[in-house]
Amino acid sequence: MLRTPGAVRDAERWTAHNYHPLPVVISSAEGAWLTDVDGRRFLDFLAGYSALNFGHRHPQLVAAAHAQLDRLTLTSRAFIHDQFAAFCRELAELSGKDLVLPMNTGAEAVETGIKVARKWGYQVKGVPAGQANIVVAEGNFHGRTTTIVSFSTDEEAREDFGPYTPGFTVVPYGDLDALTAVIDENTVAVLIEPIQGEQGVVVPPEGYLPGVRRVCTERNVLFIADEIQSGLGRTGATFACDHEGVVPDMYLLGKALGGGIVPVSAVVANTDVLGVLKPGQHGSTFGGNPLACAVAVEVVRMLATGEFQRRSAELGERLHAGLQELVGKGLVAVRGRGLWAGLDIDPALMTGRQACERLAERGVLAKDTHGSTIRLAPPLVVTEEEIDHAVAQLAAILTP
Ligand SMILES: Cc1ncc(COP(=O)(O)O)c(C=O)c1O
Repeated sequence: MLRTPGAVRDAERWTAHNYHPLPVVISSAEGAWLTDVDGRRFLDFLAGYSALNFGHRHPQLVAAAHAQLDRLTLTSRAFIHDQFAAFCRELAELSGKDLVLPMNTGAEAVETGIKVARKWGYQVKGVPAGQANIVVAEGNFHGRTTTIVSFSTDEEAREDFGPYTPGFTVVPYGDLDALTAVIDENTVAVLIEPIQGEQGVVVPPEGYLPGVRRVCTERNVLFIADEIQSGLGRTGATFACDHEGVVPDMYLLGKALGGGIVPVSAVVANTDVLGVLKPGQHGSTFGGNPLACAVAVEVVRMLATGEFQRRSAELGERLHAGLQELVGKGLVAVRGRGLWAGLDIDPALMTGRQACERLAERGVLAKDTHGSTIRLAPPLVVTEEEIDHAVAQLAAILTP
């Protein structure tokens, strides 16, 4: 008897229904492959929304975690531990910045970025008390806290969670004129994703990111790049901003930083920005804990070789070439960079959810977003054959 239906029922019975997962129950994984409780194998083309850029249980990362588990797991930031400095230094060096502030989840990194930008606005830029404003983009996804959903334009994410946090102005994504027009003397930051992941892997027009950089510099405004999903190799470069030679004032990182093992996020910036925080003004019990740092420093070392960025760029070309072949044959549009793609399925054929269900039946796991769009983000350890296999399964479900 199959174990999946009972396991799905149990999960639904005992949890709040804030997710609508595909009915697969995973019990083990390795590299790009998952195995469910009934022994069926699936190719993972979501990779934990890019939290698994290095695949499941990468041996180097598992070894680092095991070694750390045997020595020291948690101290709190009341004391310093011996993994802390190396992680902060190596991530700062990888990012070309002075300082790192470690947190746990992506939303916490975003919240931290907002707090730092506001404090910088009051203390460095001279914004009058309580007047700081941050410009954000339509279609953004930065997490689920009350402040972050306050400036979401997705009603599902926002509705009935008010009262909302003020201090944000929303402008269309990719429109530099609209962004420039709303910046005033109280603007402390522009907070954007260099590629909007949750929105469907939306790449802004060429020149937009350099334009944002230019305007921010001219108007003394911090450019905060939320690279939580786009960063750390996903797009074929260390950061998605790199494709246009853009260096923001602050990187927000998360997901892949934890190597698919522990939640690790970070804010990375120069001293003139992160230096505004003084003891007691911000913190986290678990942020920068020894286990997190031991795994994350290994992630940084793997990225420092450039191998994963190269793989993503090269294999991404193969993925996108394969997907382009399907435009007009069930796909309306394909977007993305590196091993990251947003596909718009012809809504006359099926919804994104139905597409993901059919792909799952054929052993490929992906995730829908916003109606007929699905996202593909395989681990960067995926092979050419696995990419071809996934594209073939997609072609098969699109064929009437
Ligand atoms: C761009 C971006 N920022 C922030 C977040 C929030 O991260 P977390 O779910 O770890 O809080 C996400 C998650 O999908 C994201 O894609």
